[in-house]
Amino acid sequence: MAVEETRIVTKFLRAREKDSWTFEAARKHNKAYSALEKALGMEPATIVAEVQASGLRGRGGAGFGAGQKWSFLPKDVFPRYLAVNADEGEPSTFKDHMLLERDPHQIVEGVAITAFAIQAHLAFIYIRGEFALGAERVQQAVDDAYASGFLGKDILGSGFDLDVVVHRGAGCYIAGDETGLLSSLEGERAMPRIKPPFPAAQGLYAAPTVVNNVETLSTVPHIIRRGAKWYAGLGVNKSTGTRIFSVSGMVERPGNYEVELGMSFRDLIEGLAGGVRDGKALKFFIPGGASAPWLMPEHLDEPLDMDRASELKTMLGSGAIMVFDETVDPLLISWRLAKFYAHESCGKCTPCREGSGWIDKVLYRMAHGLGRPDDLDLLLDFGSNIVPGLNAPFAQTTICALGPSTMSHVVSLDRYFGAEIRRRLKRDHAKRNALEVIAS
Ligand SMILES: Cc1cc2nc3c(=O)[nH]c(=O)nc-3n(C[C@H](O)[C@H](O)[C@H](O)COP(=O)(O)O)c2cc1C
Ligand code: SF4
Repeated sequence: MAVEETRIVTKFLRAREKDSWTFEAARKHNKAYSALEKALGMEPATIVAEVQASGLRGRGGAGFGAGQKWSFLPKDVFPRYLAVNADEGEPSTFKDHMLLERDPHQIVEGVAITAFAIQAHLAFIYIRGEFALGAERVQQAVDDAYASGFLGKDILGSGFDLDVVVHRGAGCYIAGDETGLLSSLEGERAMPRIKPPFPAAQGLYAAPTVVNNVETLSTVPHIIRRGAKWYAGLGVNKSTGTRIFSVSGMVERPGNYEVELGMSFRDLIEGLAGGVRDGKALKFFIPGGASAPWLMPEHLDEPLDMDRASELKTMLGSGAIMVFDETVDPLLISWRLAKFYAHESCGKCTPCREGSGWIDKVLYRMAHGLGRPDDLDLLLDFGSNIVPGLNAPFAQTTICALGPSTMSHVVSLDRYFGAEIRRRLKRDHAKRNALEVIAS
């Protein structure tokens, strides 16, 4: 049987490719804001309980329960804020980009329902600076929602007020970390903050704040419309519902695919994405964005299940799957990732600021025939100062999770290609020595 997507948050944008982002089409053909109308007739605590019962987990990376996070807000502390993480900087992740550009009313409706549920009267949509079209369309959606009474004062006569600010980011990866995002919103450099306190207790302007990903909040209207039981009935184990996976790299049909959790990596990569390009063999794949430890062909029949991914010492992270074929040099991929993290480290803490640069330098020489025999062990040795134990789920000596990401690919190299790389380093070293002898 052909493998199929299960479209919930992507259903409308796929169905109406020419105008899904417009207010008229969203209202007429997708019942936009009908879930908000329903939610405004519910008790805020009931909405929180409903989302909790649905099992919806954050789609930004950590996979934390959405309703659970909302329930952590301290009682009777106001004002509270909602911040939407639309920064999407994880390399190879491009699902939120699509949701923002092509179904902005879905996210605005999700924001309004969530703000009502947590009783926040001001929400921010923090959108990656480079997403010019997305920012334009989200701003237009916000303007249309104000004009039609779905935002602003006394929404639909409910007595609930909500203002939404679309804020364009400065374009750095670290602004995607929730506390980096809050620093940036406050006008500071996007440097992460030590947790605790967590944003739910002390976030934006030191007030209780919920930060959620675009896909997470885009799912909320569907849960309100169709019920927690329906959503919880989709998926597998504690990974309920669907997720959008951005599949990229050496596959026949790269793109975003929304699938029910529990589908196998094989069905996603070989079925929906058409398999490895040009009939080549799969060498390895990264299952959850650049920060996720790698998986191998023998993992293809594993399910897309967040907890099973943890057991495999990796994560589904941001929902981005990068596929590499047999012609790829894993050392070059690792070096490229190291360069990215060294560039994006904000420099606030020493292990990441100094370590990320060293990892880049050592991987450069390893990948370019200049390695020393013990270079992989050298990396693992000083890398354990960033990630004690080097074992996923990663511990960290750093303020934010970018620290461990600098070592995630090195741990993967050692795990799956260690013997081969050590042989190669010895060979490269011997070759250089031989050349020196000839030269002298
Ligand atoms: C370095 C770094 C970058 C991140 N980038 C993003 C991002 O671009 N988008 C996102 O939603 N979450 C990102 N996260 C995760 C956020 O910190 C946070 O967990 C998430 O926005 C919470 O939303 P969720 O619970 O709905 O997933 C990043 C985390 C780190 C450490
Ligand atoms: S881990 Fe890196 S990116 Fe995160 S706060 Fe420390 S220096 Fe900045």
